[in-house]
Amino acid sequence: AAFDMQPRARRFSVYILFASLLACLVYLRKDPKLPSVTRKPPRPDPKRTFRVPELAESPNCLPDRTVANASASLPEVHRVFLTSKHCRNFSTLLKPSECKAETFLVLAIKSAPVNVDRRVTIRNTWGKERVIGGKLVRLVFLLGRSQVKVQAHSLQQLLLYESLEFDDILQWDFVDNFFNLTLKELHFLRWLVEDCPQTRFVLKGDDDVFVNTYNIIEFLKDLDSGKDLFAGDVISKARPIRNTKAKYFIPESMYPAPFYPLYAGGGGYVMSQRTAQRLQATAEDTELFPIDDVFVGMCLAKMGLTPTHHPGFKTFGIQRPFNPFDPCLYKELMIIHKLNPTELWVMWTLLKDDGLRCAMSGTSKL
Ligand SMILES: *[C@@H]1O[C@H](CO)[C@@H](O)[C@H](O)[C@H]1NC(C)=O
Ligand SMILES: *[C@@H]1O[C@H](CO)[C@@H](O)[C@H](O)[C@H]1NC(C)=O
Ligand SMILES: *[C@@H]1O[C@H](CO)[C@@H](O)[C@H](O)[C@H]1NC(C)=O
Repeated sequence: AAFDMQPRARRFSVYILFASLLACLVYLRKDPKLPSVTRKPPRPDPKRTFRVPELAESPNCLPDRTVANASASLPEVHRVFLTSKHCRNFSTLLKPSECKAETFLVLAIKSAPVNVDRRVTIRNTWGKERVIGGKLVRLVFLLGRSQVKVQAHSLQQLLLYESLEFDDILQWDFVDNFFNLTLKELHFLRWLVEDCPQTRFVLKGDDDVFVNTYNIIEFLKDLDSGKDLFAGDVISKARPIRNTKAKYFIPESMYPAPFYPLYAGGGGYVMSQRTAQRLQATAEDTELFPIDDVFVGMCLAKMGLTPTHHPGFKTFGIQRPFNPFDPCLYKELMIIHKLNPTELWVMWTLLKDDGLRCAMSGTSKL
């Protein structure tokens, strides 16, 4: 009689039994070796990690209030530039390993933290080859800190990951914006002289250019890196833009002369080891100018070096009537501005296609 339960209670205990059996089965089936979702990522190699400081504005360089009144009528960005342009030393947040002594060409590409799609594309297309024609090529991306405060922390985490995974991130502790590109130039040259002094040549470019690395190597391979060389899309007699609404607006108070010195479009240019080292020394005692390619032109003028115009550098894109998507054009050019990641992939794939037949007519007409 002790076991003669009411039918409802009996059914209930059978349910409990089934439920516990099921629970046991599920528990036993769970393979303890399978990674769980919350597993911690593997520890990075301590030799390659760098302390990432808090992303707070570095307090060691305060704005210069004495210029604030003189620039009161200028747009906000110009005022910020003028009051902070004496700040020229920022710490390094992330840096890649030093260059090997036999490095032939450094591809130094200006990128902003948020442009991860462009970096991925470059690493997998024209920036992929480590050795071209027997010459060692090194890719580095140049970055500041994210300007957008809400994204800054996550993007910093991403950059740390990219740095550990690809060893190609060079980042400094200043805001990555248009008017700080000259700081990027200055800090890049310092890194080059410090950590990569033996590289024979340097290509500096934007992250939205297509670089025909094969042609660049072909062009450079017989040149003497101990002599001055600075080649690109050289612009002469460019007038400073005086329209306050324009992106490149420069007031007379910042640059009174009617023309800029000769300079190469910042989309991409190449220079020799000797020129890079002289440029670094000159840049150190040249006042910062917000437009980085013009700043380099000012330094070249100080050095008495005339930049060489090369028709293969198309930093203003390809003009009509030529089809900008004709892969045959890309086969003959050095650098083309500006392409989005999809276009870079398409061009690279077409360029690598051995079946591509081109009449050798292209650049001579451009
Ligand atoms: C800037 O101008 C304000 C008033 O217009 C004045 O009080 C201040 O002393 C000036 N600052 C400097 C550094 O000249
Ligand atoms: C920046 O650092 C250099 C040495 O690396 C030093 O000569 C210079 O005075 C510093 N400039 C500023 C503004 O701190
Ligand atoms: C350049 O970066 C520094 C450091 O982050 C910042 O203080 C300064 O305002 C920036 N300059 C411009 C023109 O935005």
